[in-house]
Amino acid sequence: MSDKLIIFDTTLRDGEQSPGASMTKDEKVRIAKVLEKMHVDVIEAGFAIASIGDFEAVKAVANTIKDSTICSLARALDKDIDRAGEALKGANSARIHTFIATSDIHMKMKLQMTPDQVVEQAVRSVKRARQYTDDVEFSPEDAGRSDEDFLCRIIEATIAAGATTINIPDTVGYNLPHQFGATIKSLIERIPNSDKAIFSAHCHNDLGLAVANSLSAVLNGARQVECTINGLGERAGNTALEEVVMAVRTRQDEFNCDTNIDTTHILSASRLVSSVTGFIVQPNKAIVGANAFAHEAGIHQDGVLKHRETYEIMRAEDVGWNANKLVLGKHSGRNAFKARLIELGVEFDSEENLNDAFRRFKELADKKHEIFDEDLQALVSETQIVKSEHIKFVSLKVISETGEKNSATVTLNIDGEEKSMTTETSGSVDATFNAINQLLNIQVNLQLYSVSNVTEGTDALGEVNVRLEHEGRIINGQGTDTDIISASAKAYIHALNKVIAATNRAHPQI
Ligand code: KIV
Ligand code: ZN
Repeated sequence: MSDKLIIFDTTLRDGEQSPGASMTKDEKVRIAKVLEKMHVDVIEAGFAIASIGDFEAVKAVANTIKDSTICSLARALDKDIDRAGEALKGANSARIHTFIATSDIHMKMKLQMTPDQVVEQAVRSVKRARQYTDDVEFSPEDAGRSDEDFLCRIIEATIAAGATTINIPDTVGYNLPHQFGATIKSLIERIPNSDKAIFSAHCHNDLGLAVANSLSAVLNGARQVECTINGLGERAGNTALEEVVMAVRTRQDEFNCDTNIDTTHILSASRLVSSVTGFIVQPNKAIVGANAFAHEAGIHQDGVLKHRETYEIMRAEDVGWNANKLVLGKHSGRNAFKARLIELGVEFDSEENLNDAFRRFKELADKKHEIFDEDLQALVSETQIVKSEHIKFVSLKVISETGEKNSATVTLNIDGEEKSMTTETSGSVDATFNAINQLLNIQVNLQLYSVSNVTEGTDALGEVNVRLEHEGRIINGQGTDTDIISASAKAYIHALNKVIAATNRAHPQI
């Protein structure tokens, strides 16, 4: 059995299916570049048929990324496979991932198809996908609750039809580690042509077991894990890439395989995904949480100082911590700025966009003396957001005094015309959001509001995340500024721009 564990990242597809986590084409390309730099083997860039925007995003990722295989999801339908094949035309290495549900409940209630019809459609789809690429993945959706004999039948047939990867999804996060591992082992043993395909695990975290189930699959013969940065995904999320990769790397005494991942990029990937989607990483999250390597309790700290391995099983720097060094300052020039951004995987598609970002950098450097990589990432996010916005933040004036009402005057540029509004309430953020609502004449429910610092110190950039609900849809927005009320206004406007630009896209699993 191979000693290489393939990392298939689905942040841009299954991660993006999480309500509020939708990403623009530029954001997807930016994340894909970091994944490529990390040496992720396969990047699932989206579900090409979902909308024109999804198609264009898969295409842009396929045309940009050279070192990772680019994949598009497709239901087991001719039109989906053709759209995926079309979007992937420009890829150096392309994979089509086709799926159909195989559990009794899904076949009966969702597909309303007989098992024979499901097998026939799966085989037909794999054959059609093979007309576009030799690299075809098949997933029996809800395999975690499917009958094992039926799984053996459909998998044998799809391998015979040309599938080169067989992915076993625990779609609803129902399995337990020993059980999921046993299923993988049994499928590999029972299916006569199983040696012709790589078996893969795709786990959801509804019971908090996605990583444990994926690792159990690897111990039982799976040689691909499907995962997302920060475990992003619908409901409780998917398997976290950083946790699987570090578990396998740290416990080489137990695993007879390893990944190609350059782990030093894990933290920057985590921060980028969090800032693009607005899904904040909890402080006690393994590997990438702020406390993951903070040995604060006195006794632990003493132990760590005397001998690192007393309490540390991994080195913080191996996953990118402490790499937060001063990179640029007030006197840095345009070339130094551009060169650093290229190192971070950011390239501008026009001189105008580079100049715009450089102007913002100079403004920031006037307010904040030390500029770190995280500041640059936030600044680029902001530049990309503003570029795509229809309603733009112009200025904010807030008057706040203890015991008095706070007033906020917001000026926005709406379709090229500047408009201002002043409102008064008991809080500055509330007054700011009310003024924006009145200017745009829009009603939304604010479900989440949070502020965090991008780097350390009181002069750090503040990052605000908001989550809005509008007519049943969830939309996130982010904004950064050295002033947190301005950051709040920007985050709110970012989300409202998405509300206004909302497009219909198909969900692959409904
Ligand atoms: O969870 C799931 O079943 C999926 C499939 C589309 C592979 O995401
Ligand atoms: Zn999934």
